[in-house]
Amino acid sequence: MADAYFSLLSLILVLPLTLLIFLYFIVRPRPVRVPIKNRHVFITGGSSGIGLALAHQCAQQGADVTLLARNVSKLEEAKEAIKLATGRDVRIFSADVREYENIVKVVEEVGEIDVLVCNHGVYVPQELESQELEEIRFMIDVNLMGTFHLIKAALPGMKKNRAERGPGSIAIMSSQAGQVGIYGYTAYSASKFGLRGMAEALQQEIIADNIHISLIFPPDTETPGFVEENKRRPQLTSIIAASSGAMKADEVAKKSIDGIKSGTFIVPCNFEGFLLSVATAGLCPQRSFLMAFVEVVTSPILRIAGLCFQWNWYGSIEKWYAQKKQCKNTLLQYLVAFDGFTSSDLAFFCEGHVGVGVVTRDHTGSIVAVCSKLVDGRFSPEDAEGLALREDLRLLKTCGLRLAATECDALRGQKIK
Ligand SMILES: *[C@@H]1O[C@H](CO)[C@@H](O)[C@H](O)[C@H]1NC(C)=O
Repeated sequence: MADAYFSLLSLILVLPLTLLIFLYFIVRPRPVRVPIKNRHVFITGGSSGIGLALAHQCAQQGADVTLLARNVSKLEEAKEAIKLATGRDVRIFSADVREYENIVKVVEEVGEIDVLVCNHGVYVPQELESQELEEIRFMIDVNLMGTFHLIKAALPGMKKNRAERGPGSIAIMSSQAGQVGIYGYTAYSASKFGLRGMAEALQQEIIADNIHISLIFPPDTETPGFVEENKRRPQLTSIIAASSGAMKADEVAKKSIDGIKSGTFIVPCNFEGFLLSVATAGLCPQRSFLMAFVEVVTSPILRIAGLCFQWNWYGSIEKWYAQKKQCKNTLLQYLVAFDGFTSSDLAFFCEGHVGVGVVTRDHTGSIVAVCSKLVDGRFSPEDAEGLALREDLRLLKTCGLRLAATECDALRGQKIK
């Protein structure tokens, strides 16, 4: 009996302890502290959103902040706001991260950088098939090549006199879409996953120079850019990404700075992000033996959770396509009636009477038209046909069709594909 207790005890206590001690000795790189106070922090995309929040907080903590963004007037606004809030002067530079020569010039002008925050990024969600190649290139150029440009330009200065200046940091803003692929994010995810590959390899190249990488993985964040681009988000993207609530830019900035200061390689921003980071730890460096312990112990459970997510997502996709098919049939029914309409009828039905006649675009942007079978204008939204139509409209909306009731004239003679 005593033996059984002992075995149990050893299982519960000795094994985890041994594992902890083992991990304590093997985790690499070694823990580090990267101070912010009185150091030169260079932030890109610094005139709005997360970048601006980062600039405010770094200035508050006594850093010498330089901001780089494209828009001069926004930069000036940011400079003024930070001066007002913290009493500190920040330097501002206008450049496009896609233009390497300009980035080199700015970096030469600002002098040695201690903490480089590559925060700039663009986000245009769309399915690959319907997204213009130009937009795909834009995301890769800004998010991935732009970061290469910055780091390549800044690295020589960052390495100079590093021993006297203490540890340096390169912080790179990825995204949760850089940890998991989501419908509608093909190009965006590729650019953000790319940053991870770059960071993992680069950390090995610059560890000897006492420069430490933090790769930050924010969820959806309430920023002007996000709000704007999200209007184009495919409906399935919204369905699948619905579980992650949007964070405030200030909160993301705070987590980022904490991550930079502790030299953390993978920096999640909320609890969900923490789980995602543990689930996708892979072969990434880990400085904390406690985090390493969590990764080792929870990996089977998180893999199961990951598989459940995939099960759920593929379920949503299947359901959505089934609905779309049903939707197309409904559209075809209406089209029979649509053929009998004159242009003015159509206009009449479109103006202000969503419940009577509708013009829509499908998710690829092609125009499709739907009209009620009732033509005489005495249509009542409350009668049986009206209710049926409303139900159809609800269905059409569910299928990702967007209302565009002002385009009646352009529609004359158009047919559904
Ligand atoms: C720059 O920002 C200002 C103020 O936010 C805005 O009005 C202007 O359109 C922007 N300029 C460009 C070129 O985007």
